Amino acid sequence: MSNFIPGPTYAEMLDPATLPAALRDKALAVQGDELDPANLFNITWRGPDHGIRHVLVPKELTGVKANIVVMAGRFFPSGSHKVGAAYSMLMEGELAGDIEPGKNTTIGPSSGNFGIGVAYVSRLKGYPAIVVMPEGMSAERYQRIRQYGGQLDLTPGSESDIILVLERTREYRQDPRHKVLAQFELFPNYRFHRYVTGRSALEAAKPYGNGRVALFASAPGSAGTLAAGDAIKSAYPECVVAALEPRECSTLFNNGFGSHRIEGIGDKMVTLIHNLLTTDYVVLIHDDDCVMGLEMLERRHRSLEPLLGLPAGLLECFQGLFGVSGICNLLGAIHMARFLDLGPDDNVVTIATDGFDRYPSVLAELERRRGPFRGGDLGAQFEAIFRGSDAGDILDVRPREQKERLFSYKEEVWTKFGYSLTYLESMKSQSFWDAEFDKVAEIDTKLVKERASIKAKG
Ligand SMILES: Cc1ncc(COP(=O)(O)O)c(C=O)c1O
Repeated sequence: MSNFIPGPTYAEMLDPATLPAALRDKALAVQGDELDPANLFNITWRGPDHGIRHVLVPKELTGVKANIVVMAGRFFPSGSHKVGAAYSMLMEGELAGDIEPGKNTTIGPSSGNFGIGVAYVSRLKGYPAIVVMPEGMSAERYQRIRQYGGQLDLTPGSESDIILVLERTREYRQDPRHKVLAQFELFPNYRFHRYVTGRSALEAAKPYGNGRVALFASAPGSAGTLAAGDAIKSAYPECVVAALEPRECSTLFNNGFGSHRIEGIGDKMVTLIHNLLTTDYVVLIHDDDCVMGLEMLERRHRSLEPLLGLPAGLLECFQGLFGVSGICNLLGAIHMARFLDLGPDDNVVTIATDGFDRYPSVLAELERRRGPFRGGDLGAQFEAIFRGSDAGDILDVRPREQKERLFSYKEEVWTKFGYSLTYLESMKSQSFWDAEFDKVAEIDTKLVKERASIKAKG
């Protein structure tokens, strides 16, 4: 491919120190100029000091004995780790010869962050992009997509109306110039998170407790991030994986659906790339608790510190780190750690997919709904949101009948989109997922060769 703009392998995203030194230096040097294509080599969980970007949440805040580690996705180029899934899909499509700059337009079906990622990597790699997403998402998302030159195609409804997005996407497939980066069904999303996020999670937890991971909690949208749980279970088979859902859209919990306020998750379906075999629990989280919890951490952290017995300024490092789904993940991690009675040796890992920069409009909307923020009952509000879990909101999905229910839900969705029952049946075996994962080595080798051949051509 003559006009191929190269990016990193999976192994380099996990550990950019393995990049040729000149390339790594260039990538670090262009961080302030986000439209420089060398930023593709900054798609990683690691910061310039090489450590996995994360925070350990103070126990005064969580109220549980276990160590809760939150990996911070907002430092990825474009502001969320979803760019990793978008890049991986485009990179694999190019290597397979399916997608080529100058010939194709990328289509990004999304609830926002993946769309931002698609618009961003498409811009860096020289493709026009169309992002198909619901019309009811935060204003900041549309703004970012436009900023990267992406075109928007909005479908009716909000977060949980993502099936309409998939139906619209199907129309785009009629034109062979359109290449759909289908995050809900393509395995680069699974590979990126199992290889890059999962192994980064193992490393993030290492300094704490017994160095292992007892619980991984993540709220699925595409369920890509949940694949990190597969990597963690490979290292520590005892690790419990919990999928979190809005109580207002309890799809995995009891086939329920409805609209909700946690952008990016709770998409009213079992996605094709969700490995149901390794999901142990489903936990419901009230959507407004996440919005209000975000408001507390962002706007009222100074009043919260003395109430929690924390030194002044300690919550400062959380500023900007969480979005609404990040709070959902934090609440789910806390509730599950309490439910499992995890102790001080146990580590819990969860994710903040994006940061606060995407949500000022959501807090403005909360204030319109609820009236101005008042400080008087902050302690009680905090207790209710961060500590007030209900055991009825936790469902063990390890029993066979639960797996069968979830498998049949998956079949109901994906046979409509043309997947055969035989293929869906094959997903009931862990060997299916391991084989998908094992493709990483072959893909990386191919990419390294492709890069070398461009270099040789000069
Ligand atoms: C803000 C936010 N949180 C969580 C998720 C869920 O991540 P995943 O799609 O990997 O399940 C998304 C996905 O778009 C998101 O945008």
